[in-house]
Amino acid sequence: MSVGLLGTGHYVPSNVVSNKDLEKIVDTNDEWIRTRTGIEERRIADNDMETSDMAFYAAGNALKEANMKAEDLDMILVATVTPDTPFPSVACMLQDRLGAGNVAAMDVSAACSGFMYGMITAKQFIETNAYQTVLVVGVEKLSKITDWTDRSTCVLFGDGAGAAVVGPVSEGKGILSFELGADGSGGKELYQDKLTDYLFMNGREVFKFAVRVMPESSLNVVEKAGYNKEDVDYLIPHQANIRIMEAARERLGIAKEKMADSVKRYGNTSSASIPIALSEAVNSGKIKDNDLLVLVGFGGGLTWGAIALRW
Ligand code: ACO
Repeated sequence: MSVGLLGTGHYVPSNVVSNKDLEKIVDTNDEWIRTRTGIEERRIADNDMETSDMAFYAAGNALKEANMKAEDLDMILVATVTPDTPFPSVACMLQDRLGAGNVAAMDVSAACSGFMYGMITAKQFIETNAYQTVLVVGVEKLSKITDWTDRSTCVLFGDGAGAAVVGPVSEGKGILSFELGADGSGGKELYQDKLTDYLFMNGREVFKFAVRVMPESSLNVVEKAGYNKEDVDYLIPHQANIRIMEAARERLGIAKEKMADSVKRYGNTSSASIPIALSEAVNSGKIKDNDLLVLVGFGGGLTWGAIALRW
């Protein structure tokens, strides 16, 4: 059985915070942020907008595109490290708000790789015929764990949500291969501090890890699927930093216009970045029927994940 995407959707808060805006609160400048990260602006959710609200809007858009109703879902998976509360999970809140009935619902914790872990978890349930249709959401309100006095992190992150309805697709399409991995010994490089609740990151170490693992796992899934890098039509890397994304693109040897790059508009939205970029690429017609896509992410854990997918 082939498992693929029946619909995608996303939601980003309307409040735009530019690099110039950040110049007013920390000692930074637009030029530094652009050249080191590629980020020009990000969306920040208002205080009264919670993670589950953004998940709800993105999920609604994905269901609409799939031409399905919440009652059609058999399971809900939400990848997030910024849930409204540790429990109940965002997935349970979403199940109730969507009116999806008493279907299985849980959050997945794999930081920025969360959406990749969610997609592959969904694939297993569908392939074993346990479930037919699974909603996978990647959503973060990183602004609530960001230290707005720390210039080394606050310029990087943004809020948003992306979603996909996963289900059976015609033979030869959908997820062709995947790779998931983790290196728990690197947990100290990127974590939420227990005392302050703020996100801590050793930027240089995470950078080194990412420029190694992104190209490597992208190439691995292409090979596992039985293709060469020349066959890749579109690359959707985790939108963390343009320099890391470029490293993956160059190793795959694909043209600039064949890589999603929404990092400049949204910053790093962690588990939401890949599904937001995917949904935008679908909406804008950048992804065409039968294209070979590579989705690849990395993040806290340390974790990583890649998928080769025939659209
Ligand atoms: N504005 C101006 N100067 C700054 C800023 C800023 N916002 N932040 C740091 N600097 C300064 C530093 O203090 C340092 O100054 P110094 O040389 O006087 O000490 C200088 O800039 C260079 O700092 P570095 O940290 O070495 O800069 P680097 O080129 O490594 O870029 C960055 C930093 C952008 C964070 C990079 O390391 C990076 O992208 N790392 C990976 C981050 C990432 O991808 N995280 C994703 C996983 S996290 C997640 O997705 C939830």
